[in-house]
Amino acid sequence: MKTKIVNYPDLVAARNREKSETVFFDASTLHLDEMKKIASGKKYYIHTYGCQANVRDEETMRGMLESVGYKKTEKPGEADVIIINTCAVRENAEDKVYGEIGNLKKYRRANKKLVLGICGCMVEQPEILQILQDKFPEVNLYFGTHEIDQLLDLVYEVYSSDIRLISIKSKQGEVIENKNVVRNNEYKAYVNIIYGCNKFCTYCIVPYTRGKERSRKFSDIMDEVRELKKANYQEITFLGQNVNAYGKDLDEGHDFADVLEEAAKMGIPRIRFTTSHPWDFSSKMIEIIAKYENIMKCIHLPVQSGNDEVLRLMGRRYDREHYLNLVKEMREKIPGLSLSTDIIVGFPNETEEQFQDTLSLVDIVKYESAFTFIYSPRRGTPAAKMVDNVTYKEKSRRFQELVKHLEVNIEKDALSYVGHIYKVLVDGVSKTDENMLSGYTESNKLVHFKGDKNLVGKIVDVKILESHTYSLIGELVNG
Ligand code: SAH
Ligand code: SF4
Ligand code: F3S
Repeated sequence: MKTKIVNYPDLVAARNREKSETVFFDASTLHLDEMKKIASGKKYYIHTYGCQANVRDEETMRGMLESVGYKKTEKPGEADVIIINTCAVRENAEDKVYGEIGNLKKYRRANKKLVLGICGCMVEQPEILQILQDKFPEVNLYFGTHEIDQLLDLVYEVYSSDIRLISIKSKQGEVIENKNVVRNNEYKAYVNIIYGCNKFCTYCIVPYTRGKERSRKFSDIMDEVRELKKANYQEITFLGQNVNAYGKDLDEGHDFADVLEEAAKMGIPRIRFTTSHPWDFSSKMIEIIAKYENIMKCIHLPVQSGNDEVLRLMGRRYDREHYLNLVKEMREKIPGLSLSTDIIVGFPNETEEQFQDTLSLVDIVKYESAFTFIYSPRRGTPAAKMVDNVTYKEKSRRFQELVKHLEVNIEKDALSYVGHIYKVLVDGVSKTDENMLSGYTESNKLVHFKGDKNLVGKIVDVKILESHTYSLIGELVNG
């Protein structure tokens, strides 16, 4: 099988942040009629790893595939198009993908016309792409995060010419509107507001895989929110690697606080957003979050480290004092605020004292939840070139200690729910017991309780009876 390379990724090009205007255009497909014939009676399988940006990309891919007639399947063995949507943020995310492709390659041997595609952040890295090509000759399509909207044309080309196609252009990126979308959920939706990242934290691969920060037009975002409201969505989450950088690249005069406010006025019951960088979180945003009842009082505010020198080396552009002052302002102005964070332990050469600063910050802020990671070197990032004198064993020890510190407050917070009634958006039925439902409180706590499955997608009152570290047990009120 011949390999056709349309574009190959390049980390130097991916780093480019020259001043250039964002290009906006509408999605289109060249081979629509042919694809309808090809897709007739066929199925697709997509497996997504990584963050909400990838989940939202999956919905776009589903929309495109279903628009020509492909049907979804959960069984890769039945599919004529298989897509693995990958994440590159840490090594363990990548390891899972290697394992999965290893399991899927047999389907290509059984079905010569199968399109086996790998996309997402992993393939944006040239060295990883080369490893994949060498290891898995069965894979016949690679496309990048900037090529998602071209999926149908790529599938068409692979299907009709029996080639291996690589189409991954490292570029700053554009904003593509009017894409087909099939949402994974009928009452909770993700809404992109800004793509890419310009922060270039020294450990992070995301700015290389996702291009520059580029905001969607305010009116396009609001049109989408209006549609979701009409379709009776109960919750929307605004997405961006840094939602509070929204609008800085446009001349429209709207910032993230305006997005929140305008959406809140439309009356969707729950509005969330992720992620907020501590660097450009304004007082205006805090005031808007406090002002509207339907903006959830949950802020995910990654700190990464509690030590100034480590923060400087990470390129985070804030220090401990700035972060703690921001938290203080948020806690004062937003009653009932639930704060969550991301923390990396074992950044190159992190000393025991520096790690202790992270522990002390955690004890001061008292997070209601947290994601913790052991530093994973990402090839091509500045931190990966730093000599590191901390052993993995020591990093694991620090990781365990950090989790213990975090859990003290997480457990205390969970216990404070017991005996009170909360609004819960019912998410689904338990896999092991069909009489058990689960859902999330406004503060994003997971609750399990008995109830009928027709409550899924509704907001109900639940009285909390019991707390565990990462979930609550409750009972329906009036029902
Ligand atoms: N844009 C978001 C986060 C994207 S990645 C933000 O800045 O908040 C999600 C989290 O993964 C980061 O917050 C960080 O804690 C973690 N992460 C990123 N790169 C990592 C690496 N090389 N090793 C370990 N954790 C990493
Ligand atoms: Fe990565 Fe930093 Fe950008 Fe977040 S802000 S995506 S951690 S570079
Ligand atoms: Fe992973 Fe890419 Fe998201 S690296 S965390 S899928 S932006």
